[in-house]
Amino acid sequence: MSEQNSCKKILITTPIYYVNDVAHIGHAYTTIIADMLARYSRLVGYDTFFLTGTDEHGQKIAQSAEQRGKTPKEYADEVSGKFKALWDDFDISYDKFIRTTDEDHKTGVQKAFKKMLEKGDIYKGNYEGNYCVGCETFFTDAQLNDDGEGCPDCGRPTTVVKEESYFFKLSNYEDKLLELYKNNPDFILPRAKAKEIVNFVSNGLNDLSISRTSFDWGVKLPDNMDDEHVMYVWLDALMNYITALGYGTDEANMDFWPGKVHLVGKDILRFHAIFWPAFLMSLELPLPDHIAAHGWWTRDGEKMSKSKGNVVNPKEIADAYGLDGFRYFMLREVPFGQDGDFSQRALMDRINSDLGNDLGNLLNRIQGMSGKYFDFKVTSKDVVKYHQKELAEVEVILENTEEYIFNMQINRYLEDIWKVLTVANKAIGDYEPWAMMKNGREEEAMALVALITNIMARVSVLLECVMPEKISKIAQSIGITIDNDAYVSLIKNKEIIADTVITKIDALFPRIEAELLVSADVQKAETVVEKPRKESLKEKSTIEEDNIITIDQFFGTTLRIGTIVEAEEVPKSKKLLKLQVDVGEKENRQILAGIKEFYSAKELVGTQACVVANLKPAKLMGMLSEGMLLAAKDDNGLSLIRPEKAKTAGTKIS
Ligand code: MSP
Repeated sequence: MSEQNSCKKILITTPIYYVNDVAHIGHAYTTIIADMLARYSRLVGYDTFFLTGTDEHGQKIAQSAEQRGKTPKEYADEVSGKFKALWDDFDISYDKFIRTTDEDHKTGVQKAFKKMLEKGDIYKGNYEGNYCVGCETFFTDAQLNDDGEGCPDCGRPTTVVKEESYFFKLSNYEDKLLELYKNNPDFILPRAKAKEIVNFVSNGLNDLSISRTSFDWGVKLPDNMDDEHVMYVWLDALMNYITALGYGTDEANMDFWPGKVHLVGKDILRFHAIFWPAFLMSLELPLPDHIAAHGWWTRDGEKMSKSKGNVVNPKEIADAYGLDGFRYFMLREVPFGQDGDFSQRALMDRINSDLGNDLGNLLNRIQGMSGKYFDFKVTSKDVVKYHQKELAEVEVILENTEEYIFNMQINRYLEDIWKVLTVANKAIGDYEPWAMMKNGREEEAMALVALITNIMARVSVLLECVMPEKISKIAQSIGITIDNDAYVSLIKNKEIIADTVITKIDALFPRIEAELLVSADVQKAETVVEKPRKESLKEKSTIEEDNIITIDQFFGTTLRIGTIVEAEEVPKSKKLLKLQVDVGEKENRQILAGIKEFYSAKELVGTQACVVANLKPAKLMGMLSEGMLLAAKDDNGLSLIRPEKAKTAGTKIS
């Protein structure tokens, strides 16, 4: 976080969810990101207000209620209750759950309307144009789809609206908005998304219709000034960000304003990046720091919808795979701002690989080593003496984490934490504590176990906001408490933990062997969407392999160009050569390759090969091998796979 933004009070918000639909993973995604940010903010010591809730007025909700034979309020109570119950079940750490049917919200919105009216920003006129009820959005003829009928956002038919309406003078704010975007390049995140907003505003803004007369499910205008009208649902909804803090009523929490970040999906960025700052300018209130727009989750490349039967139910996924695994997957899988495709296979792979192999296994190793060698007692007194290098490495890797968080580079935040886990796992392989113990170098073995425990402590502090439940178990196992003190001591001041006792706990991320078909919806999706796709692939494709993998699975393998720096024969082995290979890291890798029958050590030195660089280290004839060379073998012998032209050592192959 940059200095100028650092304030002690932080407001983090999700959009308020329409109550015409049950929660799906799209809603869960926004909420999980916001929850992570809120937990992180609290950890680093900010006074944090995390706001979520439901958006309950408007034509769409009125129509949905009518179709079900309910009053809009009955219907809103029911669905809003379901959202709240889901977030409670997910242990979402919100400070307030606002409903736009709350009386104090309605009062606040009316106060805001009055203020804008007094300012001269509202006038009465007649609206004639198109309206998409699904998106609750007005469109001019020119904005409609090419067929001249469909909503440009969702494709559904729009209706022609011709009614008396109050208007907000949005056109007055064109220049001020453009100035805002120019002077605050991080107002819209990711920055790449700002362009489309700037273009939209530069093309000219029409005044915005902010009241409707053809239905009555909405907030009335202030002081009964015009009872025919209810407010436009987006005016009502956006105001939640301040009415939740007491705007227009008790003002109790208005010191949390301006907000730090409004998290939104890309589909509602326009409302937040154009209408909202213009309303705030009109109300003479300061503007939030960031509007951060995430991408959309699809299933098999298609938009999720009830009619397609491919909606993923977050509760069922979390029940089957574990809430924290689901949270981690959502935050790690897709860079913020980009679209992502949900699949159980990808979720399972993340859980098994990142959480089971890297994180869970490291905890197992701490438990195993400390238990076997030191009766679970770990003292950190010699960590600095023996492991200055690794501690410094960890420090450098973690340098940018704070910045990544509020710039919404959450996947980079997690990638860096995983680099730190690699340092720890590698240190165990490099230092071989089992050999130290055999050779009577107990002090060094203890220092190594303490190093790994210290790394795990740092990682735990940073991961608690991502996986609160699992990480609290890790913390308990290594004898630390995660709170602001731990953050200051371990992350800010880079201190070493006190002596500790390790407690053995059950495996945190047991391996998942097969996809867990968890929900009627998901199952339906698999029959409705996946099967026909596979069949049609079969018709067109002549691929004979029966173990087809996805592109993501392929990219799970890191392939790099390696330069063979040294090579020697392994005595007593017919097949093995011991190679030192430069793969662009600080130190060369030792790779044992079964190619002695086909290459002499001498001829290999200085040549290049393709290296599998993220293979789990293995021992061959008692020696560590940290990678594999790609080769092809047929009846004429074996040849290494090499780049056609020399490439820099470490270059990634894709
Ligand atoms: N009520 C408005 C928001 C008002 S905020 C002042 C609204 N509600 S919504 O329920 O339709 O959508 C809420 C959020 O869910 C939006 O940010 C939207 O982008 C997100 N998602 C809905 N479906 C989604 C996916 N399939 N994937 C990711 N997020 C998506 O809009």
